[in-house]
Amino acid sequence: MKNSIFHTRSDADLPDKAFLDLLAFNEKMAELGRISAGIIHEVNTPLSVIISAAQLVMQEEGMPEAALEMVERIQQEAQRLSRMTRGILSFARRDDDSAGEIDICRTIHEVVTFLKYEIGKRSVQVEELYEEHLPLLPGGGNRLRQVILNLTMNALQAMGRGGRLSISCSLGTNGGTDIRISDTGPGISPDSMAFIFDPFYTTKKEGEGTGLGLFVSRNLVTELDGSLSAQSLPGAGTTFTITFPPPVS
Ligand SMILES: Nc1ncnc2c1ncn2[C@@H]1O[C@H](COP(=O)(O)OP(=O)(O)OP(=O)(O)O)[C@@H](O)[C@H]1O
Ligand SMILES: [Mg+2]
Repeated sequence: MKNSIFHTRSDADLPDKAFLDLLAFNEKMAELGRISAGIIHEVNTPLSVIISAAQLVMQEEGMPEAALEMVERIQQEAQRLSRMTRGILSFARRDDDSAGEIDICRTIHEVVTFLKYEIGKRSVQVEELYEEHLPLLPGGGNRLRQVILNLTMNALQAMGRGGRLSISCSLGTNGGTDIRISDTGPGISPDSMAFIFDPFYTTKKEGEGTGLGLFVSRNLVTELDGSLSAQSLPGAGTTFTITFPPPVS
């Protein structure tokens, strides 16, 4: 239970003073969110330049092996930073992506394709199962993409090398859509399970995780009227399930 600053408990359990402190703290957090959003926006532009420049240098012919490795490292670290800043940004303010109906399976497949390099590098097997003729999502493509990216990266990071990533998209019992992202990683202990959706809860090494991925993902899915839950069998793997309701007719 590292780095968890929020714990799930009912406000009714809190004495008045503690409750007021919590309110003040929440306000401070919101203010911090607004300030960081501005700073992060400024940080993102030079980061994109670093990533593009590193990619150009990597394409140069006749680069010495050692130099190539260093440039690859620069590119990977800059991408990690960029993923983190995007996570914080979408926490602080939502992307305006409400236009147009979304084909859920296609959107998921796009994310998997985007991660092909990462998946290949880790020798992970991927299984994608998409049912046909599923209901469309009324907007929110960017948010869905971000959630799938977060969950898939978590699955890949949990497995390290090897393992199997299974992604499925099917008709839910309620006529909506169920998305499942499963891995064969170490799983999540019942103790950790209580905290994984809390902001800043991470079991990753210092500098490797912000602990915002699942917190942001659950918020984004809720904004899209869906729900996000986790099931895990420690030692065998983890499944995250997103459930979207049937479209309103
Ligand atoms: N597929 C998974 N298998 C095992 N543990 C997981 C999995 N997904 C999440 N977790 C656990 O939940 C914690 C919180 O996940 P979350 O995505 O919120 O943050 P993070 O991955 O640690 O950091 P960030 O997403 O900001 O890089 C992780 O640190 C890990 O302990
Ligand atoms: Mg994560």
